[in-house]
Amino acid sequence: MNVILLGPPGAGKGTQAEGIVKEFGLVHISTGDMLRAAVKNQTEMGLKAQEYMTAGALVPDEVVIGIVRDRIAEPDVADKGFLLDGFPRTVNQAEELDKVLSSMDKSIDAVINIVVADEELLSRLTGRRICKSCQKPYHVMFKPPKADGVCDDCGGELYQRADDTVETVKNRLDVYHNQTAPLIGYYKNQGVLVDIDGTKTVGEVFTDIENALKAKV
Ligand code: AP5
Ligand code: MG
Repeated sequence: MNVILLGPPGAGKGTQAEGIVKEFGLVHISTGDMLRAAVKNQTEMGLKAQEYMTAGALVPDEVVIGIVRDRIAEPDVADKGFLLDGFPRTVNQAEELDKVLSSMDKSIDAVINIVVADEELLSRLTGRRICKSCQKPYHVMFKPPKADGVCDDCGGELYQRADDTVETVKNRLDVYHNQTAPLIGYYKNQGVLVDIDGTKTVGEVFTDIENALKAKV
């Protein structure tokens, strides 16, 4: 099964990805995580991506399309199927993905669109903390770790993302509405879109996604 997680910044894509890949045996491909790793390691791609990410803008299509194309060609993804998180983010990226998949004789089985209003996204993102080692997301109020500043799963140190400030989050929401929201219509036309209410609890949202995906298998 090949699945896309769609939704605005802070909708819960990363949070839900963890359970979905466990339950359905998919490979989690997060372009945001891959780009942050490249920035941290100061690779050529990381150096290119850094200024866009800090400003809350999209990294140019050719960069992200290249990393996704390479990743989905790897054997683990061919065996298990993928869960794309944060890609595609423009209609051009979606069209390129369709071309790559059809050349591999594959297609998208479901697009899970997690719906949350902007006001709630702002408080989710400014209160978010992430594990430096395993990238698991927490929230100071909604999902605190058991021990302050420490990841429950791997004991890694929690940090705040550089783009989770009030100003940058506002930019990211504008970018989402202008450039990414048109994908809702794009995938509705393909008959693969499922809307999920992302304002319920993490567990309830997971159950809704699980049921939607089980109906597709
Ligand atoms: P990316 O890392 O993809 O960030 P994003 O799309 O902005 O999404 P987030 O990771 O911020 O949110 P999320 O939906 O994963 O929410 P989470 O589960 O963490 O991209 C970052 C940047 O990289 C982009 O701005 C761009 O520059 C670049 N980039 C990446 N992909 C690109 C592409 N394809 N093209 C071009 N550029 C690209 O949850 C958020 C918080 O809410 C957490 O604290 C969590 O604990 C809490 N929470 C989650 N669910 C709930 C719930 N149900 N109730 C209460 N709280 C909840
Ligand atoms: Mg994320």
